[in-house]
Amino acid sequence: MNAIEVIQQRRATKQFDAGYVMTLEEKKELLNIALQNAPSAFNLQHWRPLLIEDRAQREKIREAAWGQAQVTDASMLVVLCGDLSSWESQVKNIWAEAAEPVQQYMVPAVDSYYRGKAQTQRDEIMRSAGIFAQTLMLAAKAHGYDSCPMDGFDFDAVGKIINKPEQYEICLMIAIGKGVSQPYPRIGKLPFEQIVKTDRF
Ligand SMILES: Cc1cc2nc3c(=O)[nH]c(=O)nc-3n(C[C@H](O)[C@H](O)[C@H](O)COP(=O)(O)O)c2cc1C
Repeated sequence: MNAIEVIQQRRATKQFDAGYVMTLEEKKELLNIALQNAPSAFNLQHWRPLLIEDRAQREKIREAAWGQAQVTDASMLVVLCGDLSSWESQVKNIWAEAAEPVQQYMVPAVDSYYRGKAQTQRDEIMRSAGIFAQTLMLAAKAHGYDSCPMDGFDFDAVGKIINKPEQYEICLMIAIGKGVSQPYPRIGKLPFEQIVKTDRF
């Protein structure tokens, strides 16, 4: 499959083969593709994926996700969080390999972009997580797997189940595995002309 075919064939999968096992190495490989290649503002890599391997954790999360079967039946489940403080805690590490003048420009630039701006900090982790999630789902498709992005769950309840640190926010979950049903035909796509405008709204 070329890149366009991978994009076209990724569908939100509702029913997974509950008996299909992915190895931990495969799961890490998919995550690593996204970690190494997804873009993020200032390269801050705000994402903090949590891989849920424990069956009891899966059951609890399913309960908090209105019983959605993907949570327990998919071979791989990621609760994708973002670190609201990555702009402050990681910036020096991330830019350490850059040339000195680049560091001297980037580190204060990042600081003034985020400091005291709670909305910006939150928006950025959501942007980064969305791109990370799509990269992960496309990598999964290219490896022969199906996926489902999910935000149909009680965020507070899932936060408690996973012991979410204070400075993290849950962005969405991603279930990955072998789909057992054919996807529904793509429906309800809004017309290009209604959605895409040029120069000004
Ligand atoms: C942020 C987000 C949250 C979603 N949450 C759920 C969910 O909780 N359960 C579910 O079955 N599908 C969920 N979906 C999948 C959408 O329903 C699906 O992407 C959409 O209907 C288009 O279908 P397609 O992905 O097959 O093209 C979610 C998608 C996104 C992007």
